[in-house]
Amino acid sequence: MTVTDPRAGLLGDAVEVVVRCAEAADAVELAAFHEEVQADGEGVVGRPGEHVWTVESEEAWIERHRATDDWLAVVAMIDGEFIGLLGFEVGDRARLRHQGEFGLWIRPSWRGRGAGTLLLTELITWADDRGIERIGLTVLSTAERAIALYRKLGFREEGRRIRQVKFASGEYADQVLMALFPVGDVDPRPRA
Ligand SMILES: CC(C)(COP(=O)(O)OP(=O)(O)OC[C@H]1O[C@@H](n2cnc3c(N)ncnc32)[C@H](O)[C@@H]1OP(=O)(O)O)[C@@H](O)C(=O)NCCC(=O)NCCS
Repeated sequence: MTVTDPRAGLLGDAVEVVVRCAEAADAVELAAFHEEVQADGEGVVGRPGEHVWTVESEEAWIERHRATDDWLAVVAMIDGEFIGLLGFEVGDRARLRHQGEFGLWIRPSWRGRGAGTLLLTELITWADDRGIERIGLTVLSTAERAIALYRKLGFREEGRRIRQVKFASGEYADQVLMALFPVGDVDPRPRA
């Protein structure tokens, strides 16, 4: 990971956020954060308690991101509180390294206030500076807020895995594939 300098940004309501690279010392907070996001359920596949994040697994995740070129792990902090996380990874083969995928999560109590926009804008600027050609993601069709954010920042739908996810209620969600091409727009429609 190219370690970037911490930056301050403002949410829509003028609350100051610090965006910085994740560090090994964040592992405890990160594990608690992941548990909270999974327990909340919005936009996640896992059921509450289904996956366990340990301090060791978080340390390893942070270390992998810090050690790998063109991977990025950034956290958003407000008054020392950990409120958001974005991880981005380019492909691990020569022919896949021009592009990558990200995951983005905001602490439930801080959603809808602009932190996701801030973190994703940071990623797009960082990727653009490095010549990364494609930023991709998968998102549940039920995650309306996430899809609205991605569309707002220029991501377009490429396709869907229909009914990929089935909830205990018997309802389904699709997995939606989306992408942004920072260095030049590309028509995302599948080619025949
Ligand atoms: C998705 C997520 C990262 C977005 O971060 P956030 O800080 O809540 O998002 P922001 O406040 O920056 O922006 C959300 C945008 O969507 C809009 N929005 C929210 N709900 C919406 C809805 N149901 N329909 C349409 N637009 C909606 C908001 O108005 C806002 O746009 P605006 O800035 O033009 O007003 C965050 O909500 C989250 O962690 N959700 C749960 C996990 C998740 O879904 N992660 C994505 C996995 S791919």
